[in-house]
Amino acid sequence: MRKLKDIRPIKLKERNLLVLNQLKLPLEEEWIELSNYNQVAEAIKSMIIRGAPLIGIVGAYGFAIGINEFSTVEPEVLKQKSKQIYETLKNTRPTAVNLFWALDRMLSKFNSLIKKGIYGNELIEELFKEANRIDLEDYHANKSIGGYGEVLIRDNWKILTHCNTGALATSGWGTALGVIRSAYQNGKDLFVYVDETRPYLQGSRLTAWELLQEGIPHKIIVDSAAGFLMKKGEINAVIVGADRITARGDVANKIGTYSLSVLAKKHNIPFYVAAPTSSFDLTIEKGEDIVIEIRDENEVKTCGGCIVAPEKSEALNLSFDITPAENISAIITEKGLITEISKEKILKFFNKN
Ligand code: MRU
Repeated sequence: MRKLKDIRPIKLKERNLLVLNQLKLPLEEEWIELSNYNQVAEAIKSMIIRGAPLIGIVGAYGFAIGINEFSTVEPEVLKQKSKQIYETLKNTRPTAVNLFWALDRMLSKFNSLIKKGIYGNELIEELFKEANRIDLEDYHANKSIGGYGEVLIRDNWKILTHCNTGALATSGWGTALGVIRSAYQNGKDLFVYVDETRPYLQGSRLTAWELLQEGIPHKIIVDSAAGFLMKKGEINAVIVGADRITARGDVANKIGTYSLSVLAKKHNIPFYVAAPTSSFDLTIEKGEDIVIEIRDENEVKTCGGCIVAPEKSEALNLSFDITPAENISAIITEKGLITEISKEKILKFFNKN
């Protein structure tokens, strides 16, 4: 078994959160201390931290940090504050469901503690413990996704991945990149093609940084190179993550994922989505009903701080797209694989019928 590094994107420092600034990677490893919930919200919004599972985890700690700021106020005022903290954190990014899932869990924990008459230090302790549970559960889910996913990967495969779905996007290890890590750790020789993932460059800045630390052979490609590489027989499988998966299995993920799924189908290449069950939103059936985040046009019109477009040209910065279930070979979760994806299969998987 190969020994891999344990990369973690956040650390708790008493009741503050230290986060690795992903805007500065790979040039600088800067840790930022977040000591109030507005700073946490800003870190999510500005993508200092990003990736669906990590946004959920940081949101959960942000809720605990926010309640801690008001721990001495009257119970009724604290209840009002809890709603304000919840809304502020919820309104940071709209597509990844993990954020809403984690915040709902924190708010319901808060309400049940208050109902039991628990206030002050004990309340805060319990909220930090709950956030920590969300964090640890995600780590274990990733390891399990890796275990289920790696059996799909054959020795000497060349795998294409998009965006960053690794330790930096989760509590550690990763989802799609976690599958690659697990396969590599268990001795499979792999080669990873890393889509650079314009405009934030999650692939070239973050995924490549992680693969380099693990010694996993890889090459960065421009996003538009994937089709030609598939045509040449250079890619054996595509593995991506998810920001939200609907009841019928449509997947919202980083812009460019849909195009890869169409290309993979055309070239008969398996297309896998790796995600924890916290990425499913069974309240939504069709992918079209997922809110797609549109970010600032200047993220497209600049690259590494340089202007790369005429000032007067407008840019459309769609941050995510939707891949229909029919383009996906399997969804890899911590509870097992979902193949031949349909609404019936997914509801059965979640024991909802
Ligand atoms: O905009 P980002 O960087 O938060 O988007 C991240 C992605 O789209 C990832 O593929 C997804 O969150 C899965 S991460 C395990």
